Amino acid sequence: MSILEDFENFLTNNIPQASSFHPNYNKAFAKMILAGGKRFRPRLLLSVVEALEPRLVKNSFSVALAVELLHTYSLIHDDLPAMDNADLRRGNTTLHVEYDDATAILVGDGLNTHAFYLLANSPFDSNTIVKLVNSLSFNGGISGMVLGQAIDCFFENTKLDIEKLKFLHNRKTGFLIASSLEMGAIISQADSEIEKNIYEFGLKLGLLFQVEDDIIDVTKSSKDAGKTTNNDKFKNSFVNLLGLEEALKYKKVLLDELRDEAKEKFPTRLGESLLLIINSYF
Ligand code: IPE
Ligand code: IPE
Ligand code: MG
Ligand code: MG
Ligand code: MG
Repeated sequence: MSILEDFENFLTNNIPQASSFHPNYNKAFAKMILAGGKRFRPRLLLSVVEALEPRLVKNSFSVALAVELLHTYSLIHDDLPAMDNADLRRGNTTLHVEYDDATAILVGDGLNTHAFYLLANSPFDSNTIVKLVNSLSFNGGISGMVLGQAIDCFFENTKLDIEKLKFLHNRKTGFLIASSLEMGAIISQADSEIEKNIYEFGLKLGLLFQVEDDIIDVTKSSKDAGKTTNNDKFKNSFVNLLGLEEALKYKKVLLDELRDEAKEKFPTRLGESLLLIINSYF
């Protein structure tokens, strides 16, 4: 069985659930996590561990799940009427449509908190756990993903220049992707040079990921994307700023640079896994 299939089994058996008399609380918590998604961030984290310290892969599942839960919370809140107002996510009706805003907000809150519960209880020494908490809380938090989302929403209808656009998308998307790779390096006790390089690589990979995501918004139907598309009209998306053709060119430039960096900047096994991921997702 592949690591990702193994991880998917782990995830299915570790959905956050609570016992109470609430009629649909547990169903609402499980829905978006079980709905799937590409599992891009868990795959990044687990691939780094597999390349550097394969015996620690199984122990890393709860950390990979923590990242996926935090990411899933960000999507649930992103789709709320007050943010992007989307009714389809991962091929399913969004939580605020199926239940109500309160449920979607609270499931997001719960997934965010539970991510750190998982880190606190992960099977690593306390020094490693503190570093993992530091990485996820910084990159997913007020100077990271949350700031990116705040800028994304505040500057709807206001055109940002390319530097500000990168600032926004680094935080909104890149920081969590970089953190996923960094957490793999932390678990593997990689040296500080690898840790630094993999974080930088993750930021560029995050930009690529967001350029692709912005292209999907204008080129795919909601049905094919599994989420509401044609929804970025007022956003500072790469497509709106550069035009589709230039966005496609920018994607190719980033892809080529990442392929070269994967080969040049990392130990062989790690570089090969990074290359494999890039080639299978883009
Ligand atoms: C979508 O993330 C939101 C962005 C950060 C661009 P993904 O494209 O990883 O969504 P899932 O996890 O596959 O549903
Ligand atoms: C959302 O970006 C990023 C986060 C949830 C942090 P988008 O708004 O572009 O994501 P999609 O297109 O709705 O998946
Ligand atoms: Mg958004
Ligand atoms: Mg959105
Ligand atoms: Mg998008």
